[in-house]
Amino acid sequence: MQRVFSGIQPSGIPHLGNYLGAIRNWVALQDGHDCLFCLVDLHAITVWQDPAALRAQTRAQAAVLIASGIDPGRHILFNQSAVSAHARLAWIFNCVSRLGWLGRMTQFKDKTGQDREAASAGLYVYPNLMAADILAYHATRVPVGDDQRQHLEFARDIAQKFNHDYAVDFFPEIEALIPTGAARVMSLRDGSRKMSKSDTSEQSRITMTDDADTIALKIRRAKTDAETLPREATGLEGRLEARNLVEIYAALTGSSLEQVLEAHGGSGFGAFKPALSEVVVNAVSPIADETRRLLADPEHLDHVLRDGAMRAQALAEPIVTEAERIVGFLK
Ligand code: AMP
Ligand code: TRP
Repeated sequence: MQRVFSGIQPSGIPHLGNYLGAIRNWVALQDGHDCLFCLVDLHAITVWQDPAALRAQTRAQAAVLIASGIDPGRHILFNQSAVSAHARLAWIFNCVSRLGWLGRMTQFKDKTGQDREAASAGLYVYPNLMAADILAYHATRVPVGDDQRQHLEFARDIAQKFNHDYAVDFFPEIEALIPTGAARVMSLRDGSRKMSKSDTSEQSRITMTDDADTIALKIRRAKTDAETLPREATGLEGRLEARNLVEIYAALTGSSLEQVLEAHGGSGFGAFKPALSEVVVNAVSPIADETRRLLADPEHLDHVLRDGAMRAQALAEPIVTEAERIVGFLK
């Protein structure tokens, strides 16, 4: 059975972009794969995190994943820092990857903007740690949203360079699994930016713990244009906000853009937004309710994560020890 690995940063509450771009596919992949799902707290601290908030968000993240259908009994759910193999392999990869490769990473450039000098060194080597996450388990299939495409190419390159430098056939090839619809959900306030946990505007994202009124309000306030919806997908060109709302509707109803426009083309946003709210509330509310129930018992969540970490550790330990032996460390 092929091994699946994916991660999400506990730097906030998961949002609709995380759900459609990643989590929903994680749930689906559980049938037919051995899966590891990781709350990547080491990645989260590449930008400042308040310690108490990080702890709370790690639990909340675990709760949302379980509420969404991740089964921590059959698969492995854990937080990254609890398994030291990640950091050990990441160090080796810090020495395998090249500064030139890291310099081409668009996420680093996006996250730092003009102020590169003030960025943490961790943010720069972020892709090395991500490669280590996957390769510490010899995982071959990695479900992510479109924004992680470049990082996965990078992880493939590291695996290849390690194998080449040490003349071994040790790390496998990695395949990115990126959904065809809603692989990049955009901000509700600005259709040119992705929906993100780090956006300062709460109105820019729907979180998986929002209640029905909050969802309706955020969608009512979502930026749109003055036109009606087109009848064909070509009519969405250049209309970033309109396209985003139609894509969300399509992804949540399992339809194509064309089908949504067949039904709603000609409507204004005054009519489409309430329809979209209903679809979003139907998807989010059951998850939000179950998340609240799970969060009432934090000891149970901590136990689930500790148990996951022990099982993850058992899988990673022999692989990372072998990588260290290949490098020439005395063992
Ligand atoms: P992050 O929130 O950056 O930890 O991302 C966790 C997962 O959600 C990754 O697989 C991302 O590719 C995916 N993801 C994050 N933001 C979006 C978005 N706006 N649209 C689609 N997928 C996303
Ligand atoms: N960098 C990913 C993100 O922000 C999260 C992540 C960390 C990840 N390690 C991973 C995703 C390994 C897939 C596999 O979205």
